[in-house]
Amino acid sequence: MNGILEAIYQRRAVKLFEPVEIPKEMREQILDAARHAPSSFNMQPYRFYWVRSTAKKAAVARLCHGQMPAQTASALVVAVADIGSMRATSEGQVEWMRSRSEFSAEKIRDYERTAKIGRILFMPGPLGIFAMVKRGIFWLLNLWKTLGMPPLSRQDLFKWATKSTSLACENLMIAAEALGINTCPMEGFDGRRLSKYLGLSARYHEIVMVIAMGKKSQGYVQPPQWRRPLEATVTVL
Ligand SMILES: Cc1cc2nc3c(=O)[nH]c(=O)nc-3n(C[C@H](O)[C@H](O)[C@H](O)COP(=O)(O)O)c2cc1C
Repeated sequence: MNGILEAIYQRRAVKLFEPVEIPKEMREQILDAARHAPSSFNMQPYRFYWVRSTAKKAAVARLCHGQMPAQTASALVVAVADIGSMRATSEGQVEWMRSRSEFSAEKIRDYERTAKIGRILFMPGPLGIFAMVKRGIFWLLNLWKTLGMPPLSRQDLFKWATKSTSLACENLMIAAEALGINTCPMEGFDGRRLSKYLGLSARYHEIVMVIAMGKKSQGYVQPPQWRRPLEATVTVL
């Protein structure tokens, strides 16, 4: 079977790991695969915290309600939706475009203009007032042309960023599997305390999931994998 499909079909949520060291090169490869996932407007609105020191891992595992995958993992990856990185990301892209001959000055200016409009559109503003103004403007514009709605509130923005973060998480887990490292995604954690522990800002950051990483314990018996039948999850039109 194709190697990518093999990793997809082999991946399971592993609940008990045995201690192994994940070498730096492997860690970097896994994280690099994560950031190759597609993201909305290529904004990559996320940050991964790779927790590997024994003390920090124990603290994070406690905040994952002491779940076994967290307690026994070789590393814990906290995937954070980050809505405060948009300006830095677009500036980084402009710098990258400037360093390459494929992009004309006009193309770079176009990108800068679009990025600026995007940033304004994606700005919730204080007390959600700007969100209300945007809602009104877009409601009127939609009477004339089908445009949809940009993310309006901070909550909408987190929802927007969570989509791209989740895709990066899946890439991360498939890459780990392909490299012989098992994973368990977890949403069982105390978000408020874990955010505080990592020094995150409630304004810009929301933890999407924590991924336990390691080698499946030899003593762990994996239950069979069940999925809804294809017809229950797919509509072909
Ligand atoms: C968003 C998300 C949150 C999850 N949270 C937990 C969790 O907190 N603890 C846990 O043991 N497993 C968790 N899982 C793993 C699921 O239980 C597991 O993926 C599911 O039962 C299917 O099993 P499989 O991944 O082995 O096919 C989570 C999975 C996802 C995608």
